[in-house]
Amino acid sequence: MEPFRYHVYACTQEKPGGKPCCNARGAQATLDALSAELGKAGLADEVHVTACGSLGLCERGPNWVVYPEGVWYVGVKPEDVPEIVREHFVEGRPVARLFAGEPAALKAEILENKRKALAAMAAAQQPVGLGLKR
Ligand code: FES
Repeated sequence: MEPFRYHVYACTQEKPGGKPCCNARGAQATLDALSAELGKAGLADEVHVTACGSLGLCERGPNWVVYPEGVWYVGVKPEDVPEIVREHFVEGRPVARLFAGEPAALKAEILENKRKALAAMAAAQQPVGLGLKR
């Protein structure tokens, strides 16, 4: 049994060096819009919101995952939030136009992004020259 009707994990990850991330793509504005819309709809105690780290789709943010259905929303803009609150959280109809994609393709994309990120981190830690690191 879930303690809340819905639980939204909203990525607010910030990445250094101009790397794509939800924070740079307006995550805080969408989170602020969500808080305001949930308050207006009287759902602040029914929809629990947790800001979280990267969900693995950094170039498509801001991204959310909504439970209990496990709906992945990508590219959420503040102007999308009233529709999500009304359609998904009030009417129970997730907003298909913002879905991240089919589960198998979504998983493959996330795992490939993870592989690339780990490879980049490993490359950044390789010694250069006489034992000096980059
Ligand atoms: S920074 Fe949000 S999904 Fe990676």
